[in-house]
Amino acid sequence: MARRDSKNNLVLFLITTIIVVAALSFVIRFEEPLRSWVAFRMIGGTHADPITLVKLILWASLAYLAVRALRALLWGFFFRLRRGYEAPALVQNVFSIVIFTLLFVIIFSELYPTINLGALFTTSAIFGVILGLALQDTLGNFFAGISLHADRPFQVGDVITVGTLKHTGVVESISWRAIKIRTFSNHVVLVSNSSAAKESIEVCPRDNLNARIVFFSTLYTDSPAKTIHIIREAVRDADNVSPKITPVVRIRNLGESGVDYEVKYWPEDYVRHHDTDALVRQRIWYAFRRAGLTFNFPTRTIEVKRRPVASSHEADQNALIERLSAVDIFAPLTVDETAMLAQASVRHVFAPGETVIRAGDAGSSMFVLHGGRVQVRVSEGGHFRPVAVLNEGDFFGEMALFTGEPRTAHVVAMEETEVLEIGHEAMKKLFDTNPDLVESLSYIIAERRKGLADRPEGPEEQDESAGLLAAIKRFFRLS
Ligand code: CMP
Repeated sequence: MARRDSKNNLVLFLITTIIVVAALSFVIRFEEPLRSWVAFRMIGGTHADPITLVKLILWASLAYLAVRALRALLWGFFFRLRRGYEAPALVQNVFSIVIFTLLFVIIFSELYPTINLGALFTTSAIFGVILGLALQDTLGNFFAGISLHADRPFQVGDVITVGTLKHTGVVESISWRAIKIRTFSNHVVLVSNSSAAKESIEVCPRDNLNARIVFFSTLYTDSPAKTIHIIREAVRDADNVSPKITPVVRIRNLGESGVDYEVKYWPEDYVRHHDTDALVRQRIWYAFRRAGLTFNFPTRTIEVKRRPVASSHEADQNALIERLSAVDIFAPLTVDETAMLAQASVRHVFAPGETVIRAGDAGSSMFVLHGGRVQVRVSEGGHFRPVAVLNEGDFFGEMALFTGEPRTAHVVAMEETEVLEIGHEAMKKLFDTNPDLVESLSYIIAERRKGLADRPEGPEEQDESAGLLAAIKRFFRLS
């Protein structure tokens, strides 16, 4: 499209040049006959010389066309070839105006040798003052624009905050009059160059890691060391948080009713920082929930005595028992054993996109999906490939729990996901009181592994189950 446009422009340019050159040659060739014809038509005679005026117009047009050609050649071709990008429009315009004015003065003094252009300008001082006053703002913008282009304090694509009203947005263009900013509400704000030159401007360059700070507070009862570790880990793998610099979590203030913290992180794409700030806050909320931390908010302690409400806890417990008894590897358990398992399991909630299990980590617990969905991603040639999606009632993390080997895959929450974590201790208790369970578990896990890995059925099923049985017994120190 752009190529066709420039082709059309070139054709138009050539046609115009041919017409102007032809007209000029005609006027120069037939100057004398034209002059007598005009004199004959203008009865009464006049001092004005229309032929010279026409020549002035034609020469000036030719000069204009020459300047355009020079501009295209110099800036559009040589500059782009050497620097790799187009010269700013403002610089090109200034160049064209200066060259054209020079050519015009030369042409004018050739055609009107008796008129002194310099005197014309100096004697029209009042005109100059009027013009100067009228163009005060425009010229101010123009020169401020030149200095912006020369200094290059920011470029198109950078995020800047400017003006007394603190307009923040992405720079869309810098023209001879104004800077155009697109705010994060998708509004366009124009800040005139002259006012931008007077204000301080905060620049977040596009190719720079610009930090962001998000605040939160905990109660005084929550340990700072634990809080700092948990929040740093929760934030570092959020989308758009740069992996090049680890987020910093630190105490900002010991407030009236709690400890105030700040999380400093570096977004990869600063333009999306509002979304990333929100995601970081979301991660903080979920991490608080999992780690049993408590947000600080202004509190007043009112002591109200209530009778213990057993029923809601009981209903919760029953829901857990129901969930665990529906899991196929726990099918061989008795009702009491399932209740014991429910008692020992810990509930966690994960945000969409959060990593529940990281491949290669040591792991001593397995998880049952109580709500939501997770995706299993297996490392393959340096990157992670999704291999399965697990739904409510499914389980994962059993391989590391039962064999003591490192985690084999990433498991990532696809939506808000609630899991029940069952630890090594709880399983060992079950194995001690119910030795046959190891065998049935190893068989079910081998079956499931086979299904998940999508392998053909065969005699190795027996071998795998026996191998697993030995590994589980070794790991849990069972006879
Ligand atoms: P674990 O190795 O402890 O941690 C990662 C978990 O992902 C693993 O246990 C299994 O529960 C699960 N997993 C690994 N590979 C697959 C697969 N191919 N399909 C489904 N789940 C898997």
